[in-house]
Amino acid sequence: MSEISSVLKTLIAYLKRPDLYPELRRKIIKNTLQRRNAFKGKEKTNSWAASKAISQKEAISKLFGLDMDSFRSTYAEVLKNSEQKQKECPIKMGGAGALELIYYACEFAKAKNVVETGVAYGWSSLAALLSLEKRKGTLYSSDMPYLAQDGDRYVGCIVPENLKPHWKLFRFADKESLPKIFADSPVFDVVHYDSDKSYNGRFWAYNELYKHLKTGGIFISDDIGDNSAYQDFCEQNNLKTTVVEYEGKYIGIFVK
Ligand SMILES: C[S@@+](CC[C@H](N)C(=O)[O-])C[C@H]1O[C@@H](n2cnc3c(N)ncnc32)[C@H](O)[C@@H]1O
Repeated sequence: MSEISSVLKTLIAYLKRPDLYPELRRKIIKNTLQRRNAFKGKEKTNSWAASKAISQKEAISKLFGLDMDSFRSTYAEVLKNSEQKQKECPIKMGGAGALELIYYACEFAKAKNVVETGVAYGWSSLAALLSLEKRKGTLYSSDMPYLAQDGDRYVGCIVPENLKPHWKLFRFADKESLPKIFADSPVFDVVHYDSDKSYNGRFWAYNELYKHLKTGGIFISDDIGDNSAYQDFCEQNNLKTTVVEYEGKYIGIFVK
């Protein structure tokens, strides 16, 4: 798809969804007046993250005192079926991240309520749900679909049917989804951020998610090397964070 036809497809898809008009207005501002916002402080944060990064396995052991090795064998069948569903999906979205980190964060926190932003195929959702299911907990997810690809119906497509009763998916931009989610459940055991990658988008959501995270709860953010929003947020709030290097990217995680 050429860039112009992709922009046009996205615009038409937005116009068909009045509930996404506020996000369309924000996107226009972001892509015109705030273009540099996406990469603000990127260099500074990448050298900071590189200097303190550890592996996912080390982080799970250091923060939770748990060993992650049994995850892949315990859930081999579920993971295999989900990979097959991803292969069969006609649209392309972001793939799986550090699933063990999310799963063991939920295990450690004995999570009953988890909120995440950014679903795509649903890999992070699957990791949280596999733990939540054991305590009859609930995952609240916020996701704005890949509009250019008409992907609404495929969001979360790798999540097995038996886990869906534990899942509430809010199909709006975070600025609309999160207030609805917090109205439903005001306190969370684990929060996972993986949606709007802009500096301002992150900073706004980090503050909101932090306010609704219980003391002792776990905060995780993907792709913190995109800009310095995560580092600045931690420094402003005096938070001691662990940085995990995973497949060439950085994930931030701390216990509140
Ligand atoms: C990297 S993918 C999420 C991957 C997912 N966490 C996983 O592990 O499989 C990012 C998702 O965030 C969504 N997204 C981007 N900006 C958003 C926003 N402002 N509000 C809600 N969702 C957004 C995208 O449509 C996409 O589905």
